[in-house]
Amino acid sequence: MIKKCLFPAAGFGTRFLPATKAVPKEMLPILTKPLLQYAVEEALDAGMSNMAIVTGKGKRAIEDHFDRALELETKIQGTQKEVLLKEINAVCNNATFTYVRQKQMLGLGHAILTGEALIGNEPFAVHLADDLCTSENDSVLTQIIQVYNKYQCSIVAIEEVPTDQTHKYGLIAGDLVDNTNDTYRVTDMIEKPAPKDTPTNMAIIGRYILTPDIFNILKQTKPDKGGEIQITDALLTQAKQGRVIAYKFKGKWFDCGSIQGYLEATNYFAKQQGII
Ligand code: UTP
Repeated sequence: MIKKCLFPAAGFGTRFLPATKAVPKEMLPILTKPLLQYAVEEALDAGMSNMAIVTGKGKRAIEDHFDRALELETKIQGTQKEVLLKEINAVCNNATFTYVRQKQMLGLGHAILTGEALIGNEPFAVHLADDLCTSENDSVLTQIIQVYNKYQCSIVAIEEVPTDQTHKYGLIAGDLVDNTNDTYRVTDMIEKPAPKDTPTNMAIIGRYILTPDIFNILKQTKPDKGGEIQITDALLTQAKQGRVIAYKFKGKWFDCGSIQGYLEATNYFAKQQGII
């Protein structure tokens, strides 16, 4: 059973400067809800109640958001605005939040390794809040937990991207398993390949189930040319032992780490809610 979800949220978010100079990227809202609240709600919905957040400098707003704001609540008590805090209060009441600070931004792999103190020796989920997903039925985390329950190894959620976009993502290659058309046993992985070097157009999006041996692998994973420790490199070690499954999830994905994806998500949610 997967009980803990890790949210790496220490990145600088340079693509959203100047907005992210003092405001964490994960706190940027789609309409009125911060990206990280969508993320935590997805984890709760998937049956996890232990939220482990990797933060860094300038990220204190995250801790305040997932805490009660009693003064504010008293101020709007009995007014029509009271309902606006209902969802976030439910999140605060139903989940436990633990935090660890990544002291240097040395990449996603390093951020996940920093989370070891909060996770311990058990399989866990990883959720990147800037990959916002919606689905008609089960959320992506629920879907990949089901895949984990079947295969009992690390799982990555994937989505096909246009070949000219592969340089932005981690890509996988793999063999279809069990006569499915959506589940692959991963044979190769590469981080942000040029179109000519890409093995496929199946990109990893920010949802993973990881087995805890990933921490020891990360400790031995060398930084890339840019000095960052990549989770893709650590996962490749597991993949070479046949221990990574990639799953083409059912649903819609918005890359909210990019301005275009953020805008698309905002429009989509505004239409869903009848605002435009
Ligand atoms: P990104 O690659 O989107 O980097 O990180 P970023 O710094 O957030 O954004 P840009 O590219 O500068 O605009 C993917 C995820 O990994 C986390 C980020 O917070 C984000 O959720 N991350 C990345 C860390 O927690 N630590 C790191 O050192 C790097």
